[in-house]
Amino acid sequence: MRFSDQFEARFAVMLTHYPTKRSVLVPTLLYAQDEIGFLSDEAIAEIAARLDLTDLEVRNVISYYSMLTTKPRGKYNVQVCTNIACMLRGGEELLEHCEQKLGIGHKGTTRDGLFSLEEVECIGACSWAPAAQVNYDFHENLTLEKMDSVLDEYRTKPQ
Ligand code: FES
Repeated sequence: MRFSDQFEARFAVMLTHYPTKRSVLVPTLLYAQDEIGFLSDEAIAEIAARLDLTDLEVRNVISYYSMLTTKPRGKYNVQVCTNIACMLRGGEELLEHCEQKLGIGHKGTTRDGLFSLEEVECIGACSWAPAAQVNYDFHENLTLEKMDSVLDEYRTKPQ
């Protein structure tokens, strides 16, 4: 398994920032996922070997964090919060709206591979509920109309 030069440079720097090798596991997994779209068996084995961990130890960490995935997903991962603050301000309607708009349900991916959709727990934007996260971008104080604009923005983003 070969990662990009940029990944290797980041990995080398991270190793100097943490007291133990295993401490770089989560950021390494995030960088790998950003690069290849998901954490493949091959990537997991490579990262485990580099950090003197077993594949199972790496998989246990992946299963704990909802932002990490071992399954391919869309280019833009739309995460709609339906936890209490968002629920009270229309989070569930927002999720339903996204399901209809994208034609997929929770953990689904559109046929063109552009969007995935997930219902998630609190993303830490309760004061600006209802909120959603697309990859690393937060979108807050959403209405159904604003959500449409958000999806259109990603749909028409230059590749
Ligand atoms: S409850 Fe939705 S961001 Fe906190």
